[in-house]
Amino acid sequence: MSVQTQIPAGAAMTRSASAGGPPIKMVARDVKVYYGAKQALKGINLEIQENRVMALIGPSGCGKSTFLRCLNRMNDTIENCRVEGLIALDGEDVYGKNIDAVQLRARVGMVFQKPNPFPKSIYDNIAYGPRIHGMATHRDEVDEIVTKSLERAGLWNEVKDRLREPGTGLSGGQQQRLCIARAIAVSPEVILMDEPCSALDPIATAHIEELIDELRENYTIVIVTHNMQQAARVSQKTAFFHLGDMVECDDTEEIFTNPRDERTQGYITGRYG
Ligand SMILES: Nc1ncnc2c1ncn2[C@@H]1O[C@H](COP(=O)(O)OP(=O)(O)O)[C@@H](O)[C@H]1O
Ligand SMILES: [Mg+2]
Repeated sequence: MSVQTQIPAGAAMTRSASAGGPPIKMVARDVKVYYGAKQALKGINLEIQENRVMALIGPSGCGKSTFLRCLNRMNDTIENCRVEGLIALDGEDVYGKNIDAVQLRARVGMVFQKPNPFPKSIYDNIAYGPRIHGMATHRDEVDEIVTKSLERAGLWNEVKDRLREPGTGLSGGQQQRLCIARAIAVSPEVILMDEPCSALDPIATAHIEELIDELRENYTIVIVTHNMQQAARVSQKTAFFHLGDMVECDDTEEIFTNPRDERTQGYITGRYG
């Protein structure tokens, strides 16, 4: 893929325009994405606040996953995908010359729709990232990261006696918490989640939703969900996408009770999507 970056004036702004608001962790300015000749995003502008959960909602195919993948350059791995515009993390262009995509993805981690543990032990699923990033070398350092990450992901008590067993032997909900623990293990600043509960039952889903709320204290979270109740439960800000546009972004309560745009209203009242 190739990238053309034009940094618009004022793009380096990293503080919320409203004085005293939370700092802005990530910024998108006029982000356009093409798959070959087909345009998937038409110029997205969005600010993602630190230590908040932002939900991305909208009908299937509107570009939610495409946008999420811009934030940690996962689109780099897609043949014929082209990204234009600016994506900044702490005011720095993530497509800039000095940014290594692998390092970036440690800072901006990702959890996918379908739990995808490595075909390795529970322990090694967590230890892998810190080891390859050189964050821990001694055995007891690695042990500590594994324990802490599993605790933070709310999985420790369920797996502490079976760390050497394969991660793939866990239930779906446990596997997804394992994937969250794996993302946490490399000390990310932002965690992206693409419909993380869509393969889970309601009890496992409730568990992940609680976890998201706890993680907000230490991480900035962006979650794609097609479940509007879930967006309402877990997020503070919601952005509504439609046909490659970001139609509106506001406090979650505002989006669900008082949307400004007819398209948002149509979607949340179930008229389409
Ligand atoms: N790898 C790809 N190659 C070509 N087109 C794609 C690819 N991924 C997504 N698209 C297209 O981009 C648009 C947005 O898709 P996507 O971001 O997956 O939407 P959402 O996550 O909101 O369902 C859709 O029209 C989809 O068909
Ligand atoms: Mg998607």
